[in-house]
Amino acid sequence: MKFFVDTADIDDIRELNDLGMVDGVTTNPSLIMKSGRDIKEVTAEICALIAGPVSAETVALDAEGMIAEGRELAKIAENIAIKVPLTWDGLKACKVLSGEGRMVNVTLCFSANQALLAAKAGATFISPFIGRLDDLNIDGMELIADIRAIYDNYDFPTEILAASIRTANHMKDAALIGADVATAPPAVIKAMASHVLTDKGLDQFMADWAKTGQKIL
Ligand code: G3P
Repeated sequence: MKFFVDTADIDDIRELNDLGMVDGVTTNPSLIMKSGRDIKEVTAEICALIAGPVSAETVALDAEGMIAEGRELAKIAENIAIKVPLTWDGLKACKVLSGEGRMVNVTLCFSANQALLAAKAGATFISPFIGRLDDLNIDGMELIADIRAIYDNYDFPTEILAASIRTANHMKDAALIGADVATAPPAVIKAMASHVLTDKGLDQFMADWAKTGQKIL
């Protein structure tokens, strides 16, 4: 499973990238707002740092506007994936932009039928939002499994990009189901390294080592 980082924070992206944990980056208007940066400026910086796809989201609500904004965002760098919402207009924009050979990430997906339409419209990535479904007591992971089954039934090349990932368990479950990509906040990726028994075991080793009075260096 590829790891995308769901942030526009350059320092966080750099730290994870240095560890080889970043196959791509996803941003959205909320993350751009949180960064306090200019969208084109910060996206260009991210694209220079990361070789993989960097999603930049359009904000127009009509297809024509999305297409124009998508073309503008794509000028930032070769690795831009244009993000459009899963609306009827978003699907129209997806069809046109993907037909021009651009990467398109169709976002705000909450049903298998929406994912099926995005694949038909030529999406490079479909972004089903797990956490926001879980928030409503609807099993977000079931949606990932449904989309996996449908895409596999018909060999759709659209990649399942599990989004709205909130926990390390979400990462594990998405990987078990076979999501192609998961995009997660840096804190969730770091949390995957934590285990209470690792901490406990390390405490014990340190206590015993102190008793030996030895040094390695
Ligand atoms: O990739 C979409 C993601 O940013 C949404 O996450 O936590 O705001 O639902 P969240």
